[in-house]
Amino acid sequence: MSTQQTVLLVGGSGRTGMRVLEQLLNRGIRVRVIVRSPQKLPISTAKHPNLSIVEANLLSLSDEDLLRHISGCDAVISCLGHNISFNSIFFPPRDLVQQATARLCRVIETIRPEKPIKFILMSSVSVNHPRDLDTRRGKFEKTFLWMLRAVLPPAKDNQQAANFLFDKIGTDNAFAQWTAVRPDTLLKGDVSEYILQENFVSSLFAPDNTNMANVAHFMCELVTNSEAWDRWKGKLPVITNA
Ligand SMILES: NC(=O)c1ccc[n+]([C@@H]2O[C@H](COP(=O)([O-])OP(=O)(O)OC[C@H]3O[C@@H](n4cnc5c(N)ncnc54)[C@H](OP(=O)(O)O)[C@@H]3O)[C@@H](O)[C@H]2O)c1
Repeated sequence: MSTQQTVLLVGGSGRTGMRVLEQLLNRGIRVRVIVRSPQKLPISTAKHPNLSIVEANLLSLSDEDLLRHISGCDAVISCLGHNISFNSIFFPPRDLVQQATARLCRVIETIRPEKPIKFILMSSVSVNHPRDLDTRRGKFEKTFLWMLRAVLPPAKDNQQAANFLFDKIGTDNAFAQWTAVRPDTLLKGDVSEYILQENFVSSLFAPDNTNMANVAHFMCELVTNSEAWDRWKGKLPVITNA
């Protein structure tokens, strides 16, 4: 029986998503990507024998299509995010990340896999741990974040996606297990040493940095390393460069 793992990646044409894609393929993992613009992928990556590309807008796919793409996967990784443009930030779908998260997890539940499928979400340090479980944010920062979510749809969207995982999927779901990875300010650069913590480390007003390559490395570890998965499933690890 083949032990090669299969991952469905959404947001694979983005800055972090592309790094995740490359690192998954380098680890010998079979990858399915759903992308709106396959031409954004580097040609060498697009032609990789372990990659299959579905050209589609994720939110326009039917549940039947999604079910077909998720069936047989060990993990689903979402690196979706609002592109940095006025239209993408302020016009629909304002709930892109939440909608995609909910649909992907609900389809996983419909499949009722024998072994839970891992759902790994690219989140952000601007996301508070649901039910106020982050102990390090003071009242002032919490109020600031509350205002940010009121005026910036992507900030609210990321928070609602995390709330959905925590409150609706829960931590003892038999079919879908999840981790929401919270990087700080994203940087280019290679994989380097990084730190994982359950709680926030730095103030919102003196942010840390996180290489996108490190986010990708950690996401790949969550797929392939069972100890890493057992440590972080059902949690929202904050990842920053060492
Ligand atoms: N910037 C930071 O410092 C920072 C820090 C922490 C966390 N984050 C979070 O990290 C996430 C990813 O960041 P990134 O910079 O890697 O993202 P990015 O480069 O902007 O990539 C976004 C991805 O989402 C896809 N996408 C956007 N709108 C879509 C839509 N309406 N339908 C389907 N797909 C859509 C894009 O597809 P196309 O290529 O087709 O447009 C792309 O693949 C974001 O949620 C962001 O909030 C960012």
